[in-house]
Amino acid sequence: MNKNSIDVKRLKEALTAIVGDNNALFADSHAERLQPYLRESRERQVGTAFAAVFPRTTEEVSQVVATCYAHRAPIVPQGGNTGRCFGAQTDDPNAVIVNLRHLNRIRALDADNMTVTVEAGAVLQDIQAAVAAHGYFFPLSLGAEGSCQIGGNLATNAGGINVLRYGNARELTLGVEAVVARGEILHALSGLRKNNTGYDLKNLLIGSEGTLGIITTVTLKIFPPESNNSHAFIAINSIDDAVTTLRRLQARFEGRVSTFELLPQRAISLMHAHSHVDCPIDAHHPWYVWYKVADSHIDKPLFNDNVAFLHALMQEGLVVDATVAQNEGMKKHFEKIRETIVGVQQYAGVAVKNDISVPVSSITCLVEQGNAAIARICPDVRPYPFGHVGDGNIHYNLMRPAAMDDATFLAHYKEPLQAAILDIVYALNGSFSAEHGVGSQKVTLMQTYQDPVALAMMRDVKRALDPLNLMNPHKVIPDV
Ligand code: MLT
Ligand code: ZN
Repeated sequence: MNKNSIDVKRLKEALTAIVGDNNALFADSHAERLQPYLRESRERQVGTAFAAVFPRTTEEVSQVVATCYAHRAPIVPQGGNTGRCFGAQTDDPNAVIVNLRHLNRIRALDADNMTVTVEAGAVLQDIQAAVAAHGYFFPLSLGAEGSCQIGGNLATNAGGINVLRYGNARELTLGVEAVVARGEILHALSGLRKNNTGYDLKNLLIGSEGTLGIITTVTLKIFPPESNNSHAFIAINSIDDAVTTLRRLQARFEGRVSTFELLPQRAISLMHAHSHVDCPIDAHHPWYVWYKVADSHIDKPLFNDNVAFLHALMQEGLVVDATVAQNEGMKKHFEKIRETIVGVQQYAGVAVKNDISVPVSSITCLVEQGNAAIARICPDVRPYPFGHVGDGNIHYNLMRPAAMDDATFLAHYKEPLQAAILDIVYALNGSFSAEHGVGSQKVTLMQTYQDPVALAMMRDVKRALDPLNLMNPHKVIPDV
């Protein structure tokens, strides 16, 4: 579509009439104020668009979408703009960004049915706090929780640190309300835990990254608080030992293992060099794990069991050093370490990032084969694998060699390194996107690695539900 194909004046008037002057920014009249909505949070992409609008209700979203449909203007839904795969950016000068931040009410908490209903623009941390204020727990938790929004979390089926016990965003969602391609409102805001009445449209929308519709309100599961919990920070000698420790932990604590996060030595030393956060145990071990076991019953404190468990593993030599949190401050410290090791990566220069998953039993094989393959392609490349070992999701990032500049690394090594890792991932029955989604960044990988029948079915669904290809085009599905 070229710029001349939309009637600029009429589209501006129509959008302004729906959301009001204060809730619409146009490229030709508000160029500077529009900027933040064109940028990806890490400033890796600065796009362009016709407008950004900020509807306040589902009905306004519906009218905006119907108007864009009538004008053949592409729509790019946007939440907290914290995504990792450029799903909420566009470089189409005709595109209308639909930012959900004003749709941020917590509509209802239903304690009898253990649900909370919230609008898509509600910030994840605000939902956690609102649920906690009623004495319950909402477990979705990730580094960006202070600014990411629940609509975006569902659109990307966000994961995070508690997936092991509670599942991804999809498993936490009971119902959605959404605006679909022609502007109709899909009323599927159910709190039912059983509902077998045809296709599960909710699950089609979750993870579709705005390519099939805009989620406007969601009903989520809530849980009893994890009042009885114990956090440990441990050192181990190998990834294999981390996986064995996880298995032993699960055998001992069963479904109460909430979090199990791997950290490499390289992360701890970058953290020491570039932050004020300390490692609570000797900082020279090859690998570290932060884990949490939790329960809502407080009759038998998990702390004592966790100490005894670790004592046994240390005597065996599986765990080489450990500390168990004795207060809330220590728990926050462990969590802070996990958060900090993500940000400090930037101090080592550019990296090739891989958000991959494999069966937990294949993680050791992945990293052994992966490290050997990448060293053959780019000697001195610095692997930085970390993350959610408990659910097989490793952020297998590859930092450039210390002596190489960013541009050379990206120009000559990015593609071969990524292909080498992904070929191993797929040989191990894994996935190229475990929790960050596809967006526009990984859309070509869909062509290479997605099952062809699955991809053809996805294209058919996209064409049927969005015949003009206006809903977040060029994201997720290649060549629609
Ligand atoms: C994490 O687990 O900390 C994130 O998914 C990593 C990232 O944002 O790159
Ligand atoms: Zn992650």
